[in-house]
Amino acid sequence: MITVTLPNKTYDVKIEMGLGRKIGTEIQQVWSKRKVIVITDEQVGDLYLHTTVSELQKADYDVITATVPVGEKSKSLKFVGEIIQTMADSGFTRGDGVIALGGGVVGDLSGTVASLYMRGIAFIQIATSMTAMVDSSVGGKTAVNLGKVKNIIGSFYQPDLVLIDPIFLNSLSERNLVEGYGEVVKCSALEGGDFFDLTGNINSVDDILANASELIERSVNFKANVVMKDEKESNLRRILNFGHTLGHAIELLADGKLMHGEAVAIGMVSICQCFEKTNVTSNDITQAIKKRLLAVGLPTESNLIGTPAFFDHLKNDKKNDHGTLNLVALKKIGQPVIVPTKLTEMPDFVSAVTVK
Ligand SMILES: NC(=O)c1ccc[n+]([C@@H]2O[C@H](COP(=O)([O-])OP(=O)(O)OC[C@H]3O[C@@H](n4cnc5c(N)ncnc54)[C@H](O)[C@@H]3O)[C@@H](O)[C@H]2O)c1
Repeated sequence: MITVTLPNKTYDVKIEMGLGRKIGTEIQQVWSKRKVIVITDEQVGDLYLHTTVSELQKADYDVITATVPVGEKSKSLKFVGEIIQTMADSGFTRGDGVIALGGGVVGDLSGTVASLYMRGIAFIQIATSMTAMVDSSVGGKTAVNLGKVKNIIGSFYQPDLVLIDPIFLNSLSERNLVEGYGEVVKCSALEGGDFFDLTGNINSVDDILANASELIERSVNFKANVVMKDEKESNLRRILNFGHTLGHAIELLADGKLMHGEAVAIGMVSICQCFEKTNVTSNDITQAIKKRLLAVGLPTESNLIGTPAFFDHLKNDKKNDHGTLNLVALKKIGQPVIVPTKLTEMPDFVSAVTVK
């Protein structure tokens, strides 16, 4: 168990095989009897909603559910409005609760609903995808999209509890599992030490599953420590963007063909290559990260980097601070640094990226 302690809130992240079968008793430890809405998507709902609802009912909660379609399109104001209407129709008050059962999409949507309903209602996340387990369920960022603009409407809103049962990963598609694992490699490179040694021993999808509990625990622990020092991303939390600036631009350019974690994998290797040119990062660091990503089949290069459209996306990046990007470089494994870089310098900077 990992405890996240923030100025205005403390909550636990519980990671345990089989937790999914005792959700009711776990939630009873933080919530009194109340109405709850379980929000899920069609795929996770088909697999786990029935058991989750009956566990909650056994624990004496008064349960309603909301199931949204699978995918990013459900992170929208339309679904926020519909779910809030359902809650209002069912007489939810500020003393009731919202439970997210799903991946990052359901988590972000549910967090947004919880933060808005009557100016804020209690919220619990049950993370079912690798991305949700190692990243989105921890840290309190909630958001929905507006049209094609991702995560533009949202807030920082912390849950009361996060429940992670690695058994859920057995039903996740291999591509989703591996994509989420890219984030684990990122955390291990930022933290270094034993954690980076651990990802060095992961050579297949089976290895990810066999070591899932430890990989999740180490990632959550790393992220929680960063968030505890800088909840609202004014400084240290920026290091979590390692690989994301270049990655996010190619994710948009690939128009759905690259998943987020795949684009970030390419972004991590590419930014290391760029910082090799300026003598911040050494080639052995780039190679060590690349080896870990290739070992599970993640991509590490893209010819989309450096195209005119690529620079347009960099310009529109929400992390563009008046013409400067705060890039994350690795001086050493476990030693990230922020390197402010002017947008005008980016064409020369990214010319170091190699594609075979
Ligand atoms: N809030 C944050 O800090 C944060 C961080 C990272 C990502 N995100 C957001 O998370 C989203 C991506 O998350 P994601 O990759 O989990 O996407 P997702 O929620 O769409 O899940 C991916 C797919 O896996 C399915 N799925 C989830 N768990 C499953 C399981 N146990 N068995 C079978 N299928 C399962 C879902 O139905 C979906 O089809 C994006 O919207 C991103 O912006 C948020």
